[in-house]
Amino acid sequence: MSNSSRTIPAFYPIIFGLTLLLLITSACNVNPEMVYEADKEEEYDHAAVVTGHPLASEVGKEILESGGNAVDAAVAVQFTLAVVYPRAGNLGGGGFMVYRANDGTTAALDYREKAPAAANRDMYLDEEKNPIDGLSTKGHLAAGVPGTVAGLMAAHERYGKLPWARLVQPAIDLAWNGFSVTETEAERLNSFQEAFQEFNDPDCPFIKEEWKKGDELVQTNLAITLNRIREGKAAGFYQGENARLIINEMKSGGGLITYQDLLDYQPVWREAITGTYDDYRIISMPPSSSGGVALLQMLNMVDWAPLRIYGFQSIEATHLMVEAERRAYADRAEYLGDSDFYEVPIESLIDKKYLISRMQDFSADTASTSGLLTAGDFRKMKESFETTHTSIVDAEGNAVSLTTTLNSNFGCKVVVDGAGFFLNNEMDDFSVKPGTPNQFGLVGAEANAIKANKRMLSSMTPTIIEKNGELFMVLGAPGGSTIITAVFQVFINVVEFDMPLEDAIAAPRFHHQWLPDEILVEPNAVDPAVRDSLQAMGHKFREINRMAVVKAIQKLPDGGYVAAGDPRNPDDDVSGY
Ligand code: DON
Repeated sequence: MSNSSRTIPAFYPIIFGLTLLLLITSACNVNPEMVYEADKEEEYDHAAVVTGHPLASEVGKEILESGGNAVDAAVAVQFTLAVVYPRAGNLGGGGFMVYRANDGTTAALDYREKAPAAANRDMYLDEEKNPIDGLSTKGHLAAGVPGTVAGLMAAHERYGKLPWARLVQPAIDLAWNGFSVTETEAERLNSFQEAFQEFNDPDCPFIKEEWKKGDELVQTNLAITLNRIREGKAAGFYQGENARLIINEMKSGGGLITYQDLLDYQPVWREAITGTYDDYRIISMPPSSSGGVALLQMLNMVDWAPLRIYGFQSIEATHLMVEAERRAYADRAEYLGDSDFYEVPIESLIDKKYLISRMQDFSADTASTSGLLTAGDFRKMKESFETTHTSIVDAEGNAVSLTTTLNSNFGCKVVVDGAGFFLNNEMDDFSVKPGTPNQFGLVGAEANAIKANKRMLSSMTPTIIEKNGELFMVLGAPGGSTIITAVFQVFINVVEFDMPLEDAIAAPRFHHQWLPDEILVEPNAVDPAVRDSLQAMGHKFREINRMAVVKAIQKLPDGGYVAAGDPRNPDDDVSGY
């Protein structure tokens, strides 16, 4: 594989070609031929980054070392992931960023996709009002209006230090020159060939008879798209040639996104959702993600109990945590949706008194039944599987926790012709019909019904945690509905069961989401004897191979950081200095 820049084809307009040539030949220290030795855990004195791909971690570290801050690194990492991690890193999707500056100020950026203006609540139902299989998950109609580029620009405008062009450049270089795919990415690309062929031209760079580890992936059109973004920032994506290509793609496949939808897209700065657990302050994502609300609910439903004495995955701890998870997901289904469209009672849902009352029907020796346990009624109180996460702390102690997604692997499988990026299938995160489960088995109601321009509810839980006012941990994960319970359990593993971060992440997990009424477990999660006892209490189990993939950084008591990726994703990689 050649590491040198390719020649610009003669048919590109001369000015554009010269600009591109300048861009491609400008310095990028990332070697696309690097051997992918993903590093799962490391300690660093000054700054750390954890991402889903070694090339992205390398770019993040390079930006941090050359004076960029955590937001600069996050922007560069996200653009790089759009190239090297096409199944989830994206330009055609959306995400959430939680930020904590070293002075303790916080912010949350919502750049989740939106329903196109022409969307309506019944758009995925047949004449009998039943969901049409696959319509909200595959093809053009599944795509929401992308938020990523507008989101990254908003983050950079508010906090960035290095020039925008400097942050987009590594991604352009990797797209243009190519890079070798990892074994995991080759496997993923192979599994979706049929869908790629169904929705794309044969010259689409992802279509190939068989991908193997080390094969080169060159994405010329994506490099040109990134160049437009480098030059025009968000306008380079939402207007002009790129908008034209997206609209053409929509027209060719019956999608709903219009030029006006693209022009109208705006990310939203929101107040981060915060709450406490012992000496810890949790800073997480408010709606349109359910992550922060559900995480605070679970933590406050268990914080009265001596988890430390019960022990890791003991009968008592597992039963209690499962019951907290069940109740949080029941509330999620009823009350959570885009707060710009639906009045989400956030304060009530995370109120400590409400959460104590929510556990009043908890029985220490019997499983609750989800069919009988509905969402809580806080009004009585009188007094709320493919994504990628990045955690970063810079040398000044500013932290970013950012999760971004196309929803499924490679989103709706449509690559925008001529622009080289996948579109999301995020529309499936709406409740397409009350009570009908989405691809993660999650049900919803009016709060998350489809409406024009509304954001679909997410489970993404980018989170930052303080201990006694100081930065303590940055974490988050991909993994659909299992994201929230993974963040919950990794935090509990560290603070209650005294696990080192790496072990806390690797430890097998369990997950309950109210409906279906079962505990999902990874192989070897929950000791067989404990499982027998829990079954005798009425719990049902189902085994799945893998749950959410956590990436976290923890501040060490004597200075520096430990960064850890998740063995569940072979490509998870830490870097820093
Ligand atoms: O926003 C959400 O909750 C989902 N679209 C996330 C999808 C996901 O994590 C798939 N990954 N493994």
